[in-house]
Amino acid sequence: MRRKRIGILISGRGSNMVALADSARDGRIPNAEVAVVVSDQPDAAGLGKAKERGIETVVIERRGRKREEHDREIVAALRAKSVDLVCLAGYMRVLSLEFLDAYRGRILNIHPSLLPAFPGLDAQRQALEHGVKSTGCTVHFVDETLDGGPIIAQRAVPVCDDDSVETLSARILAEEHKLYPEVVSLVLENLAKSSES
Ligand code: GRF
Repeated sequence: MRRKRIGILISGRGSNMVALADSARDGRIPNAEVAVVVSDQPDAAGLGKAKERGIETVVIERRGRKREEHDREIVAALRAKSVDLVCLAGYMRVLSLEFLDAYRGRILNIHPSLLPAFPGLDAQRQALEHGVKSTGCTVHFVDETLDGGPIIAQRAVPVCDDDSVETLSARILAEEHKLYPEVVSLVLENLAKSSES
């Protein structure tokens, strides 16, 4: 059976991309590989981390274009690499309907809160400001809503009294790096089953 091909979209640091890439390489995401990493930011730190791992990278900047036009170029890059599953990993843009339709049901995102709490930017800061006693991370399918698509899995972490945004983010991130590869394995397994039937 052909290995499933993952395309990862980043805008920055790329630590979740690394977690996915290393999990696929080490067989913790069975029968899969990261086929391409796409960044909309030419200086994203994650690009170097992907290259170090021998993964092909593509930079596709928005350059003032309409979202649809930008996304069309990204979808073409993903299709050129025969990508089966798209993983957003710190990708800071909302996807156009055209992109969603091209990969309907095959786009995942990771978010650093227990959705539906604290969607959008600065989820960890939002959690601290609300005084919640636990928060966490969520992997969900991407649809046209902001961080509102169907939830696949979540992991909770405690919020400590002396937490800063940094300490809380680090605690959540450690869970993100475990959860995302687990969910990707599950989703790929289900995709393989549905393509057999
Ligand atoms: C993570 O906290 C992720 O949940 C959010 O953006 C951050 C990306 O970090 N969507 P990284 O680029 O994967 O290190």
